[in-house]
Amino acid sequence: MRAAQFTAYGPPAVVHVTEVPEPHAGPGEIRVAVRASGVAAGEVALRSGRLRDLMPVAFPFRTGFDAAGVVDEVGAGVTGVRVGDAVFGAAGFARRGTNADLAVLTAWAAKPAAWDWAEAAGAAGAAETAARVLDRLAVAAGQTVLVQGASGGTGAVVVQFALALGAVVVGTASEHNHDYLRSLGAVPTTYGPGLAGRVRALAPGGVDAVVDCAGGALPDLVGLAGDPARVVTIADFAAREHGVHLSHGGADAPAWHGLAVAAGLADEGRLRVPVAAAFPLDEVVAAHELAETRHARGKIVLTS
Ligand SMILES: NC(=O)c1ccc[n+]([C@@H]2O[C@H](COP(=O)([O-])OP(=O)(O)OC[C@H]3O[C@@H](n4cnc5c(N)ncnc54)[C@H](OP(=O)(O)O)[C@@H]3O)[C@@H](O)[C@H]2O)c1
Repeated sequence: MRAAQFTAYGPPAVVHVTEVPEPHAGPGEIRVAVRASGVAAGEVALRSGRLRDLMPVAFPFRTGFDAAGVVDEVGAGVTGVRVGDAVFGAAGFARRGTNADLAVLTAWAAKPAAWDWAEAAGAAGAAETAARVLDRLAVAAGQTVLVQGASGGTGAVVVQFALALGAVVVGTASEHNHDYLRSLGAVPTTYGPGLAGRVRALAPGGVDAVVDCAGGALPDLVGLAGDPARVVTIADFAAREHGVHLSHGGADAPAWHGLAVAAGLADEGRLRVPVAAAFPLDEVVAAHELAETRHARGKIVLTS
């Protein structure tokens, strides 16, 4: 089968599609015939070597955290899913490999009928992350939540999860994405100089919790929340200097229940996972190049 992998850290061009042996579902796992898979910002960071201290990888490293497809193997002990079912899910934080024709998943949920394969492909990573950070902040109905980097593949799902919890959401993005943020249900503003004043004008009662999906603005974000414990970042490696928690798969228990939450919201028509671009698997380098811009509006996916 074909799989995308890299054998050294470096620019997008180090990723290549090659023939590899098929993986098989172990106990507690399933294997899917992949219809589409995600290319997340985290994949870009792993491939570039930026995360080599936090999450070193062994070469060759097969890329891809999440995917959607049709179940074709069910591992020992797995219940509730059968060969032929349509699912979306994730491979896990250490072993990845979903950018391939066949992928082993360790967490999954039934693919909502409302989502096409591309939309389902990048949903699992964003849903797990959204559940993990919002649980940690104990976001509840009536609170005001600020999402920094709200127009990205992860931020858009954090926005919709927070709204589903009953929060009011202020989201930051470039101005050309403000109508998009409104369409998701967030109150938009721009990031960058003057952020604190703009947010205070939009949320005069204050901000109860901040989810930082971008990095680089923690002093402003802590000032707005009033307490570093009310800020969680998924993207700022200087978090500790500001007393802020950096949440990632190696630091916190994965919130796999987020997949079922996402499926439930999608079935109710309350969760979209917008797709910025879909590329054939063989064009994985172009997908990494787009992800590296940090300005794709939604998820980047590969179709098999
Ligand atoms: N730790 C974890 O568990 C975890 C999980 C998922 C993602 N992440 C990380 O979270 C980050 C976001 O992921 P993603 O998938 O949402 O990425 P993405 O799709 O590339 O989104 C990037 C977002 O950041 C915004 N942005 C770009 N430059 C910015 C700046 N200087 N200041 C503030 N916002 C800026 C973009 O807004 P505009 O395009 O509107 O300008 C967009 O909303 C990445 O660093 C990724 O590695 C971490």
